[in-house]
Amino acid sequence: MGRLDDKVAVVTGAGRGIGREIAMLLASHGAKIVVNDLGGNTDGTGTGKIADDVVEEICAAGGEAVSNTDSVAEVAGGEALLQTAIDAFGSLDILINNAGILRDKTIFNMAESDWDAVLAVHLKGHYCCSRPFAKYIRENNRTGCRIINFSSVSGLFGNFGQANYGAAKAGIAGFSRVLALELAKYGCTVNTISPGALTRMTIPLREGRGEEVGDSELEQSGPQHIAPIVAWLATEAAAGITSEIFHTGYGGVAIMQQPAVIKQFKKTDGVWSLDELDAVVPQLIAAKKANVEAAKEAGAAVEI
Ligand SMILES: NC(=O)c1ccc[n+]([C@@H]2O[C@H](COP(=O)([O-])OP(=O)(O)OC[C@H]3O[C@@H](n4cnc5c(N)ncnc54)[C@H](O)[C@@H]3O)[C@@H](O)[C@H]2O)c1
Repeated sequence: MGRLDDKVAVVTGAGRGIGREIAMLLASHGAKIVVNDLGGNTDGTGTGKIADDVVEEICAAGGEAVSNTDSVAEVAGGEALLQTAIDAFGSLDILINNAGILRDKTIFNMAESDWDAVLAVHLKGHYCCSRPFAKYIRENNRTGCRIINFSSVSGLFGNFGQANYGAAKAGIAGFSRVLALELAKYGCTVNTISPGALTRMTIPLREGRGEEVGDSELEQSGPQHIAPIVAWLATEAAAGITSEIFHTGYGGVAIMQQPAVIKQFKKTDGVWSLDELDAVVPQLIAAKKANVEAAKEAGAAVEI
């Protein structure tokens, strides 16, 4: 008995990297998988048939999978993904929005095409794939489904040279919080992953800093470390856990703080004067700093 027997999952960008590991792990727990990947380069150019290789691997290991090479950045692609699941397996329960590209540039050098391409695959891609699934859930009154989205510390904390990617990844966190509310009625949970793993997306950054990435680094920090929390969130054990952001990778699994008001002053008469704000804003900044320090302390890893 697998924990995901009889479940059907779509994993986008599953031809390599984190998506491939998720597809393999879900399949090993009994889920039937649609392996989506258009097989392009890191910057989103080009195409290739890599999804077929992952399907072969899953089937060779005794699982069930079909491939799909549609782009998640197109509305028609998202609709075709749902249809592929229905045609091959008759239903859909789990959507993992993992596909992604990078076009890192500072704002000074970022062309409109770099902005548009990254927003299209990440943020619009989440819309393109989630909307048909959400409509399918509502039209069929299907309960207990799962959507797992992919954000990044780039958007949640900020990262130099990634205004396009950071904007998309922060947008995905906001998108997920709204979807969690809209799909709660159907018992569909919507959670967000903030991963950290050595893949073709990140290895060049390490190598650029002169750091070597060998087999032992890949064993400790590879994309296989992201898949377990994703698979767990897809199981029955995670029913009711929704609208959360899990940070994971390098052996760690963590829950992230969501935006929250930390301290507040309220004027009961009139509007704030700038002189009054001179006094109040430093207190807000001090409260925020104390909160960051407390979160740092609480977030220190507990070794298991
Ligand atoms: N690796 C990390 O440390 C890291 C950190 C933060 C966030 N992420 C996010 O995790 C996800 C997976 O990243 P990864 O490191 O495995 O990258 P990767 O480049 O190894 O894999 C991404 C896959 O998505 C596919 N893809 C790209 N555009 C597509 C499209 N339009 N339609 C369908 N497939 C498409 C690519 O062909 C590729 O196989 C991405 O969303 C990424 O932004 C990764």
